[in-house]
Amino acid sequence: MKPIGYFEGESMTRRKVFAVAGQALGGVAGAAVVLPALGFAIAPIFDKPEEDWQRVGALDDFVPETYKPRVITIVQGIGEAGKSTVYVRQGSAELDEDPNSYVAVSTRCAHLGCPVRFVQAAGNFICPCHGGVYGFQGEVIGGPPVRPLDRFQTRVVDDGVEVGPRYSVTSQLEPVRARDPGEYTGGIWEYLYPPRPSTAPAP
Ligand code: FES
Repeated sequence: MKPIGYFEGESMTRRKVFAVAGQALGGVAGAAVVLPALGFAIAPIFDKPEEDWQRVGALDDFVPETYKPRVITIVQGIGEAGKSTVYVRQGSAELDEDPNSYVAVSTRCAHLGCPVRFVQAAGNFICPCHGGVYGFQGEVIGGPPVRPLDRFQTRVVDDGVEVGPRYSVTSQLEPVRARDPGEYTGGIWEYLYPPRPSTAPAP
């Protein structure tokens, strides 16, 4: 039986109009809920923080033989919780480093992120959580860490040393873009653990 009001040549019934309009409204309502949540979830991935350089001391504060601890701000605007210790020293010719350069080593363990400590007597970095041990240049010499300690870029400005963006290194201490704790670096791992887009290019 033809619906009331039907006429020959009609291509769309009122029922169909309501069905399409209902589906369109449902789609708009769904998008209004899903899109903001999606944007909220993935926006930080593409967030490119400005490069932040912080002065950590005068040139002659640092020597090649040992590290000096310095406190820097990693995350702005959250007070003490955003600060971290970084170990800084002058480059060592004995270690094939440029003596005019400065090395700034992160204290975040490359296993699960516990704070490591430089033990002067041993010349090693020790992690208190699971027994991770790193050598003088931050290379892994024991325990579960998956890569050497991260570093911060350094530069000399007005007879002082500044530290900048963090980066990671391979087991040969080659710089790569910063990774999170637990992520391997070098070789095929570069593809299996790609860096977040928000990380700075490696120096
Ligand atoms: S967090 Fe450092 S060894 Fe596990």
